[in-house]
Amino acid sequence: MDWNELEEQCKICKKCALYETRHNVVFGVGNKDSKVLFIGEGPGENEDLQGEPFVGRAGKLLDKMLTAVDLDRNKNIYIANIVKCRPPQNRDPRPEEQEACVNWLRLQVKLMKPKIIVCLGRIAAMKIIKPDFKITKEHGIFFERKNTLLMATLHPAALLRNPAQKPDAFNDFLLLREKIKELCPETYKN
Ligand code: URA
Ligand code: SF4
Repeated sequence: MDWNELEEQCKICKKCALYETRHNVVFGVGNKDSKVLFIGEGPGENEDLQGEPFVGRAGKLLDKMLTAVDLDRNKNIYIANIVKCRPPQNRDPRPEEQEACVNWLRLQVKLMKPKIIVCLGRIAAMKIIKPDFKITKEHGIFFERKNTLLMATLHPAALLRNPAQKPDAFNDFLLLREKIKELCPETYKN
């Protein structure tokens, strides 16, 4: 299966009840040839309406933090979510919804072969890194899995609610930049 086939199939998915209320399936955005993958939790209202991840207020903050470490969703990273359809009222995606949807993400990972995966927030970290992940204690730590490094940072929406955590998150991005330079320096070419 190639990227186009995968996206086509994902966009007609009805594997969980979230399909009933969605306006758009939010498949992902960015450079599919890049080696750095960011994973959020699921689309919010703006994302559902526009069909792109992280385009609301949290997304603007994310873009600012990415820019600060020379990353850009249109150039050298890819961004996707655990669930591709918006949970009503922005509630947390349910375990069965995450389980139904994460296979799409697994197929994205298989095609992309990222060297570094960054989980945005606790929900993504618990699904991708480990079920008992503690975001306040374990953000910024790199976990090795096969040939990939996994790390989580604070969710940008959480930073909007609690700006005092911004320096912690920024420090995670600085650590990330060093790791990228070490493992996939091509990310920063031209
Ligand atoms: N929050 C997320 O986790 N993902 C998005 O795409 C937008 C907000
Ligand atoms: Fe399919 Fe995922 Fe949407 Fe559920 S959230 S309908 S599994 S694409």
